[in-house]
Amino acid sequence: MTNRMVIVALDYSSPELALQFVDKIQSNSCALKVGFELFLSGGPHFVEKLVAKGFKVFLDLKFHDIPNTVAQACSAASKLGVWMLNVHASGGPGMMLAAREAIDKQDVSFQPKLIAVTVLTSMNQDTLTAVGVSGSVDQVVTKWAAMAEQADLDGVVCSAQEATLIRAQSDPKFMIVTPGIRLLSDNKDDQKRIVSPSDARTAGVTHIVVGRPITQAKDPCAALEVFREAFVSA
Ligand code: C5P
Repeated sequence: MTNRMVIVALDYSSPELALQFVDKIQSNSCALKVGFELFLSGGPHFVEKLVAKGFKVFLDLKFHDIPNTVAQACSAASKLGVWMLNVHASGGPGMMLAAREAIDKQDVSFQPKLIAVTVLTSMNQDTLTAVGVSGSVDQVVTKWAAMAEQADLDGVVCSAQEATLIRAQSDPKFMIVTPGIRLLSDNKDDQKRIVSPSDARTAGVTHIVVGRPITQAKDPCAALEVFREAFVSA
């Protein structure tokens, strides 16, 4: 079983604001997720800065393109020293295999975990039908997760509500990474389907992605500890 970990979504509008939080926390207390907004404002150098501070960085750029282009993007991302990166499972087995091969070719100390986004939690049955994907959300998520595991990826991003199904069909080491996590006392923000850290743990989730309940808390370090207690230490 993979060690459980909290990943803090650094959804800040500037690297300066992100650093105000980062500089208050220990590098072994969590991993940090850098998404489009912060990558576009801080650039690759900001990612390297976080890596140099000793943090595990999840570069959440969700690559989805022809296999060769995705492979090149994965090689470039690996060279930043990130701990984990992701691609869309809907890119298909060929694209995921190309990403896997590109990472395996890197020097062993620069081989990030590679995970696949299954069905985005913002999509529902109607959206799947509208884009021409047949089957229920559960069927598509479990099929794409199996496809990712067959392509030798290290795990998937999914809703915690699908985690039990994926855990049942996959290797115990297969990482299940889930956003939409809230404590009962938290504001739901714009998340519709929320799951508590302890329910996520029970469902077999290995990594929870938490943003605003930590980054916008009065005391972000204390908030991180609460999530760690509920998900990692419990
Ligand atoms: O602030 P909050 O905890 O809702 O942040 C969740 C993070 O996870 C954000 O960075 C969001 O973009 C990301 N995410 C998500 N739902 C997905 C995929 C990613 O909330 N399906």
